Amino acid sequence: MSNFPIKEFEAAATPFYFYDMELLRRTLDAVKDSAHDDNFHVHYAIKANANPLVIKKISEAGLGVDCVSEGEIRAALKAGFPASKIVFAGVGKGDSEIDYALDNDIECFNVESIPELQLIQEMAAVKCKVANIAIRVNPDIDAHTHHYITTGLEENKFGVALDMLRSAVDYCLKSPNLRLVGLHFHIGSQITVMEPFKLLCERINGLIDTYKKLGVEFQSINVGGGLGIDYEDPDGQPIPDFKSYFEVFRNNLRLDSTQQVHFELGRSIVGQCGSLITKVRYVKEGLKKKFVIVDAGMTDLIRPALYQAHHVIQNITSTDIATETYDVVGPICESSDCFGVEETLPVTKRGDLIAIRSAGAYGEIMASQYNCRNLPGCVTN
Ligand SMILES: Cc1ncc(COP(=O)(O)O)c(C=O)c1O
Repeated sequence: MSNFPIKEFEAAATPFYFYDMELLRRTLDAVKDSAHDDNFHVHYAIKANANPLVIKKISEAGLGVDCVSEGEIRAALKAGFPASKIVFAGVGKGDSEIDYALDNDIECFNVESIPELQLIQEMAAVKCKVANIAIRVNPDIDAHTHHYITTGLEENKFGVALDMLRSAVDYCLKSPNLRLVGLHFHIGSQITVMEPFKLLCERINGLIDTYKKLGVEFQSINVGGGLGIDYEDPDGQPIPDFKSYFEVFRNNLRLDSTQQVHFELGRSIVGQCGSLITKVRYVKEGLKKKFVIVDAGMTDLIRPALYQAHHVIQNITSTDIATETYDVVGPICESSDCFGVEETLPVTKRGDLIAIRSAGAYGEIMASQYNCRNLPGCVTN
């Protein structure tokens, strides 16, 4: 079990997110060691977690950042990411968001449709600017992950379909205020096997060859994010296998010496450094089950309710060696407000502290105030 600062936890109001900054530092070191190639550029997908303390640490490590809204761009700039390392993605960028990104001279727009290209061209022309563009291609690859986080299949709303890419490329090439720098891909999230990434490389190689024959060279290839984490063994594998991940792209992408590869990793960077810490309010006997009712709910961590995700649940204050089986549930008026079914925990009582592990990604950032609840707090080491 992780070494939690229990004394500090006991003094803090629950529920709150605990971020292990030391683990985050080691994770960032591992990313940088594994992506040492001069033409590899790692961006952090800030949608995974925009906690100011977390993103400051990531910007200090020298990573770029992938944003999907004006709010994320503002948060990134505030945390110290330079505008020249900000890429702006998203299927439905608003006019004012594009305006803000153009004014800040961000690195690149990852564009998902021809109407969006038209709007960026118009707005950049008014400002006498030239916007760097990567066209997001929908590569039609099954990432074999949860259907809510599969993004690269033909029927997903994301990206330009392969058959329509030519028109988007031609539109960029004839637009004086757009500079086509490359292609962008993202096939899904929580991908724990390397095969889908290899397929992605094959698809990219094919596109590079096809367009080379047409006289179009892509200076930058953005392969998105998606590397998963081990939700069932956060202490056994606290740092994802970045070596194997980057190796796939090093060994399988056929690039010339000037082409750059961009990565947009979210979950794999911050997932394991965060835990949701919550206090037991009641232990309730049902007819067939015992429930541990905690003060955190789906408003604080929605992944179990939204994706049927399972996080390791630990009682971090009980010293009892006897165990019991419980359903661990929150106080929200929804049946889906359940963190775990038939969890084996040490005998648990009112006031115990529970850690819900691997909650650093898509946790705090997705918190809501449903039921007029407060947002969760934050503690770091
Ligand atoms: C375009 C894009 N890039 C990067 C990411 C980050 O993915 P992950 O957190 O799985 O690394 C996402 C996540 O949805 C995304 O949509």
